[in-house]
Amino acid sequence: MPKLRKTADGSPTLYSAAFGETYHSMQGALSESQYVFVEQGAKRCGEQKSIRILEYGLGMGLNFLATLQWALQDGVTLHYTGIELYPVAEQLLYTLKIEGVAPQFAKLWQEAMLAPWQHTGEDSTFRLPNGGSLRKLLDDMRTYTPEAECYQVVYFDAFSPEVVPEQWQPSVFQHCYDALRPGGLLVTYSASGVAKRGLRTVGFRVERLPGALGKRHMLRAKKPATHRSLEK
Ligand SMILES: C[S@@+](CC[C@H](N)C(=O)[O-])C[C@H]1O[C@@H](n2cnc3c(N)ncnc32)[C@H](O)[C@@H]1O
Repeated sequence: MPKLRKTADGSPTLYSAAFGETYHSMQGALSESQYVFVEQGAKRCGEQKSIRILEYGLGMGLNFLATLQWALQDGVTLHYTGIELYPVAEQLLYTLKIEGVAPQFAKLWQEAMLAPWQHTGEDSTFRLPNGGSLRKLLDDMRTYTPEAECYQVVYFDAFSPEVVPEQWQPSVFQHCYDALRPGGLLVTYSASGVAKRGLRTVGFRVERLPGALGKRHMLRAKKPATHRSLEK
């Protein structure tokens, strides 16, 4: 079972001995989620009342929590789908206390993370306020095929390419590309060469941005707005 760690901004993360990595930056787990995924991803989709996000690696749901907080505060209806192969155990979720978010968001996050998982082909959706939803898919990100052109943003939050190179392959990025609507964005904390090349190979326009909390870089990749339709 992953082990609890406190990070520099007071928020918790987990350490996986199986993968030899923490789920977030030790400089600040929640701050990293807010910067990499919400600031550089969700908020960059232009003015909108509703957003569809697909996450690779739902983990303990901290990126989900940061996004939920932003969406509810800004009146955006959030439809969030997270893929995860190794769900965090219930007893561990009960021990996670998130500082830096209002209690009502932390409570909703815990209920959502304790809600049932959906196996491929089933429908079990957790309802969020404001008409939103969370789907927690128990699946393998290496092979999962998302709905085509469904999402505005992909959060790519696998463990690092050094640890799980098979999760940073063009075949996986192709699924992300196909899942995005034209003009959609993929964001990831990694700025590794393998990520950059893989994203470009499948057609993304890749931008290197300043990274979170003193990290040099992160990546944002855009699916061109005028790409060929999948049917053609
Ligand atoms: C960096 S952590 C994600 C942290 C998460 N986004 C959060 O906010 O808590 C990477 C996640 O990928 C999951 N994972 C590892 N291999 C996977 C696979 N083949 N398919 C789906 N998820 C996988 C791990 O269990 C872990 O939860």
